[in-house]
Amino acid sequence: MKEPILELSHVSKTFYSSKTGEIPAVSDVDLDVSEGECVGIVGESGCGKSTIARMITRITDVTEGKILLEGQDITKVEERDLKKIYKKIQMVFQDPYSVFSPRMQVGTFLEEGLVFFGISSRSQARKEAETLLHMVELSPELLDRFPHELSGGQLQRVVIGRAISMEPRLIILDEATSALDVSVQKQVLKLLVKLQKRLGLTYLFIGHDLAVVRSISHRIVIMYAGIVVEEIQSERIEQAAAHPYTRKLLESVFSVHDREKKKIVLETLTMQDSGYERQGCPYQKRCPFVYDRCKTEKPDLVDYGNGHKVRCFYFE
Ligand SMILES: Nc1ncnc2c1ncn2[C@@H]1O[C@H](COP(=O)(O)OP(=O)(O)OP(=O)(O)O)[C@@H](O)[C@H]1O
Ligand SMILES: [Mg+2]
Repeated sequence: MKEPILELSHVSKTFYSSKTGEIPAVSDVDLDVSEGECVGIVGESGCGKSTIARMITRITDVTEGKILLEGQDITKVEERDLKKIYKKIQMVFQDPYSVFSPRMQVGTFLEEGLVFFGISSRSQARKEAETLLHMVELSPELLDRFPHELSGGQLQRVVIGRAISMEPRLIILDEATSALDVSVQKQVLKLLVKLQKRLGLTYLFIGHDLAVVRSISHRIVIMYAGIVVEEIQSERIEQAAAHPYTRKLLESVFSVHDREKKKIVLETLTMQDSGYERQGCPYQKRCPFVYDRCKTEKPDLVDYGNGHKVRCFYFE
C-alpha cells in the first residue's frame, strides 16, 4: 500500500491561559490522508479542528507528536526551509477577504504566488493567471478587479485557484465554504470535487456542518473536545455511525429540516457548555448512555475494521 501523504501520530496541543489554566485543545490525534482522498474533520466550535490545521501548516507548534508530510516530520523543519512546506501544503480559510490585500488586483494576487514559488516566470504569469481563473470557472475579466468588487463566492474561487496553482500535495480547507450562501456553497463544493477529480488533488476538509463535510469527504473524522471520537467512511455514516456524539450530529442534520432550527441546534452545541473533562470520557456529561466507568476511565479508539474506529465503552 502507498504511504499516506499526510500522517499525524499522537499529536497534541495544549494552550495555557492565566484565566483557565491548561487548555488541551488537541489530544493524542492520529490521522492520515492518502493521495487523491478527501478526509473530513467535523465537530463543534472549539473542538480543535483549526488547531490541527495550524499545526500542519506550522502556524502553531505541536506540544507532542509527529506530523509527517510525505514521510518528512514537518514539526522538525527549520524556519528557513519552511517555504518548501508551504508550496506543498496550501490552505483555504473561511474568509477570502482576509487573504487579499484590499489594494491588490486579482491578477496580481495570482501572479505573485506563481512567481514567488518559481512556478512560472513573470512574463508567463499573466497567461497562467488567466488559465487559473478559467479552471475555477471565472471570467478573465476579473483579473483587473479589486477584492471588494467581487462577491465572497467569486473571491473564494480565486483563493482556490491560487491554491491549486502551487501544485500542492495537500490542500487544507478550513470552513472554506461556511460563510457562503447555501446555493453558492453548493457550487463551490461542486467545483472542489471537479478539481479534485481532474487534478488528482488531496484534501483535508474541515467544517462544523456534518451535511457539508459528508457531501465532499470520502472519510470523516469526528472530534469532540480535542479528541477523535469516531472515524468512518462517509457513505457508511448514516447506517453505521456508533458514537453517541456522531449520532447526535446526524440527528441535527437529518431530522431537523428547518434551516433555522438546525442552526440553533448547532449553535447550542458548543464546547463552552461542556468544558474539558479531566477524567474519563470527554463526552460523559452529555451522553445519554453514560456508565460509571465512563466517569473514571478514558475509552480507547478501537478499530472495528473497514476504516471504522470508535472511542466509546457503550459500543465496545
Ligand atoms: N492561541 C490560542 N491560545 C489559547 N487557546 C487557544 C488558542 N487557539 C485556540 N485555542 C483554544 O483551543 C480550543 C480549540 O480551538 P480551535 O480554534 O482549534 O477550534 P475549532 O474546532 O477550529 O473551532 P471553530 O469551529 O469555532 O473554528 C478552543 O478551546 C480555543 O479556545
Ligand atoms: Mg476553526
